[in-house]
Amino acid sequence: RRPGRTTTPVPAVPENWAGVAHADPLSRGHRGYVGTPLARLDGPVKVRGRAPFAAEYGYDDLAYAALAYSTIPKGRMTGLDTAAAEASPGVVLVLTHRNAPRLNPQPGYDMSLRDPGIGFERLPVMQDDRVHWNGQPIALVLAETQEQADHAASLIHATYAAEPAVTSFAAALAAGTRPLEIFGRRIRVELGDAEQALAASAVSVDETYRTPPHHHNTIEPHAVTVAWHGDELRVHDSTQGVLHTAWTLGQILGIDPARIRVTSPFVGGGFGVKVLWQHHVLAAVASRTAGRPVRLALSREGVFRMTGGRPPAEQRVAVGADEDGRIRAIVHTGAYATTRHSPWPEPLSMASQNHYASDAFVLDTSMAYADLVQNCSMRTPGSTIGFFALESAVDELAGKLGMDPIELRLRNETATNPIGGKPFSSRHAAEAWRAGAERFGWSRRSPVPGSVRDGEWLAGMGCAMVSHHYQRRPGGAARIRLTADGRARAEVAAHEMGMGTATVQSQILADRLGLDIDRVSVGYGDSAMPGRFLAVGSSQSAGIGGALLAATRNLMDELLKLVRDGSPLAGLTLAEVGAVNGGLAALDDPSRHESYESVLARAGRAELVVEGSGEPPAEMANVSMFSFGAIFCEVRVSSVTGETRVSRILGSIDCGRVLNPRTAASQFRGGIVMGLGAALTEETVFDDRNGRIVNASLGDYHVPAHLDVPPIDLIWTDIPDPYAPAGARGIGELSSTGVAPAVANAIHNATGRRIRDLPITPEKLL
Ligand code: MOS
Repeated sequence: RRPGRTTTPVPAVPENWAGVAHADPLSRGHRGYVGTPLARLDGPVKVRGRAPFAAEYGYDDLAYAALAYSTIPKGRMTGLDTAAAEASPGVVLVLTHRNAPRLNPQPGYDMSLRDPGIGFERLPVMQDDRVHWNGQPIALVLAETQEQADHAASLIHATYAAEPAVTSFAAALAAGTRPLEIFGRRIRVELGDAEQALAASAVSVDETYRTPPHHHNTIEPHAVTVAWHGDELRVHDSTQGVLHTAWTLGQILGIDPARIRVTSPFVGGGFGVKVLWQHHVLAAVASRTAGRPVRLALSREGVFRMTGGRPPAEQRVAVGADEDGRIRAIVHTGAYATTRHSPWPEPLSMASQNHYASDAFVLDTSMAYADLVQNCSMRTPGSTIGFFALESAVDELAGKLGMDPIELRLRNETATNPIGGKPFSSRHAAEAWRAGAERFGWSRRSPVPGSVRDGEWLAGMGCAMVSHHYQRRPGGAARIRLTADGRARAEVAAHEMGMGTATVQSQILADRLGLDIDRVSVGYGDSAMPGRFLAVGSSQSAGIGGALLAATRNLMDELLKLVRDGSPLAGLTLAEVGAVNGGLAALDDPSRHESYESVLARAGRAELVVEGSGEPPAEMANVSMFSFGAIFCEVRVSSVTGETRVSRILGSIDCGRVLNPRTAASQFRGGIVMGLGAALTEETVFDDRNGRIVNASLGDYHVPAHLDVPPIDLIWTDIPDPYAPAGARGIGELSSTGVAPAVANAIHNATGRRIRDLPITPEKLL
């Protein structure tokens, strides 16, 4: 048997792993909220308009900020005329590098995870006359109203001594590339001799795939409202990292992060970009300088100018196979653009390293430096574009083999990770493929491209794999307050960007404590709460879940210490009780039950407060943990205009246990909609001469609108992962990965045209 095709038994779960729901006696008090389609607990306040967002906090003496941006990509400002702005009505302050206080550098993310740094771009903030990209903030205007600030900012005029700049991806590539390193190590993977195996393969494809830059367009643009109370800074933010933002601002401002409180109870979308950027720093500095609370809400144009997104990339994917479709070699290499001052990884080649059994691999990613707005992680960094290349190539290979593309994938399923050989904790990708194909009606697909016509419309079906790695970050912690009325409130410094975080965690908490859902609540979005959480990497559910499991265990332990003589629980140990019916009970004799109210009352306690820390993420030590699935879609392409309409789409998902089918479906739909944008319309267009974005608006950068989105059907295997807290792997970034290739593959099936260059706009099909 060849390595990579063996079925290795999954090793035993780590001992004492509190996250293993089925192995944990405490979970026997389960009331069954997990897995039910509970409606979002934050839904009512949102639809009533009562959910405060960062730019909606009022202060009596609030001043409003607006930014002016550089208009060259690189050089020095030789003049910065602020006189007209200063004389403009209502202006309170004009802040530039000339009068800004001295600040420390931006520390950015700490890739070692030692410090809770956050942010992609590490330049000094308004500290000198240097310009690093076209769109860099060069002045902040503070005024009595937003309109006055906006107008005054438009009066700022800079003159420049421009320097040669690299303002296109082509120019960046031409200047040479260097290997991408993560954690100081090159991410190159080599197994066997892939080039030789490719050359020796009976059938192969070897193609180049191009993807454009993308911008995040969260429905709520970045915003902060800040106020100083003496030496304490209050920040109302829209962020994926409350604690990290407080810590990082503290470093830059040179003050103790404990004196900064960042709250962000509601976030109107994040996708990776809702982190610390220069506007946080500028708002805090302007507020301190002016002695007034400040609101700085980026305009949509401002979001494009000063926060970056997915970088442009060019990838080579080559796949070689035997006549029977067994993959022998995968080569996946490519380069993307980033900045020299703050290189940030877009690990596109990693998409190919975990899925197809193959004897040989070469996988590598390179960076090309450009003087453009900072790139950053955008929903499923690396994989979104990596899967476009890989899953297009696999479809092309199926065509050359004359084989159904699903059959080709099933022939190359593997129970162990082909790189490194670890078994998957739980992999039911084949079930997802089969169930999806059945439900979608894949058997009705014509294998002959261009053969199905309906008037001017050519119809076709395509599919592609989705996958994303499981992640649980260290540092998760939770506090639980149990009160004399038998209610429990948990607090975690985590985030709700619309995913259903608090809802799902309330379900876990209610089940773990044996409480009705209306007797529990979960607080979040406050840097003063426990735990070091980031809403990134599809990691929050596991991270919070692991912390809540630990905290509920501690709570039960503390409750047992309060048990008094006369209690039905007297003499029982933690291992002997479970939570059920609003209290604790003996596992072997449920009639020995005492309610939480009663335990606290007997002990004369008004409340019991405990904290718990999630265990280190050791569940990944011996297994590979990934979510899997498949996207199926049907397209109709006009032979007259080249327009593509996606008419149906199905996601068939294997993500462990689905904690809440309603919120999970919403996550999957959101990812699929984002994938449709990448497939068909989204592209940040830079003027190659000067690096300025020319489509910095939602009118010119087209994200999918309702008419672009067909009915989205979803099914899942719902097989709990024994290694993940509550059995659930991450889902946030999963579904977007395979959408663009599924659409491209369907377009090929419909038209016979293979487009290897996103987005697939009409002119490419004419
Ligand atoms: Mo995500 S791109 O890890 O917020």
